[in-house]
Amino acid sequence: MKIGIVGTGMVGSAAGYAMALLGVGTEIVLVDANPALARAQAQDIAHATPFATTVAVRAGDYADLKNAAVVIIAAGVSQKPGESRLALLERNVEVFRSVIAGVMKAAPEAILLIATNPLDVMTFAAQRISGLPVERVIGSGTILDTARLRSLLGDHLGIAPNSVHAYVLGEHGDSEVPVWSSAMAGSVPIVSFAEQIGRPLDAAARTQIADQVRGAAYTIIEGKGATWYGIGAGLARIVRSITDDERTVLSVSMVTGEIEGVRDVALSLPRVIGREGVVATLMPDLDAGERAALKHSAEVISGFSTKLRF
Ligand code: 2OP
Repeated sequence: MKIGIVGTGMVGSAAGYAMALLGVGTEIVLVDANPALARAQAQDIAHATPFATTVAVRAGDYADLKNAAVVIIAAGVSQKPGESRLALLERNVEVFRSVIAGVMKAAPEAILLIATNPLDVMTFAAQRISGLPVERVIGSGTILDTARLRSLLGDHLGIAPNSVHAYVLGEHGDSEVPVWSSAMAGSVPIVSFAEQIGRPLDAAARTQIADQVRGAAYTIIEGKGATWYGIGAGLARIVRSITDDERTVLSVSMVTGEIEGVRDVALSLPRVIGREGVVATLMPDLDAGERAALKHSAEVISGFSTKLRF
């Protein structure tokens, strides 16, 4: 099964590396506006596969994406230190017009997986530019913020992050919404679990963790200029759920008809991912504060999406 990656900077190449190590798909094709970069990244990743899997990794051009099951789009400019994700919008929409035309011509059946920031608005733009059904244009969304939340909660509680069932929803960005009211450790409500083991998750602890999740990208960008390993692994996780028709529930972005009274906005909710893309969307139980925060997040994204006039 062929997976395409368009844009082979740090995020695209990290996704390719993660898929090659994990054995996601059977063939990975890297495409970049700078073909020398795509070739170098493909070679470097291919040299890791003898230690891991038999995935074939090569560079190509748009025509080589023919019959790809999934095409990851990680093209565009990224944030400078201190810059918000939304500041990138206009530059990246222009990049998407030509990238998506190239992908659609070669691989009209592919599911598009968007990784470019500002993530939700770019997912909206990709769906509008491609004209594909909404469930076939998936944004990595808050899969990464959810991973950061689970990892910090795992540390706080002294348990494995994969035993933490908690989601960050809404925007992949400053207005994201950590959902505490339905968060679980195993099958125990997380606040009650925290009390039982003597590591309380009071309001102050929750705020501190939420701030760390929201600030993670800023902190990492300050230290090393960009983020790539976490998102690379997250993208590989989404692709595997598609290629293997896993029907895993992941928090990812998609254009959503209506959410908290806001229409036609791409944002993250827990969604079932399978061979056809998003198979179902789950609406978690939210308390009043979380509902208001999700509405605010939808309004923030909608404010930017509307300006694009698609
Ligand atoms: C991240 O959250 C910058 O969106 C990127 O790591």
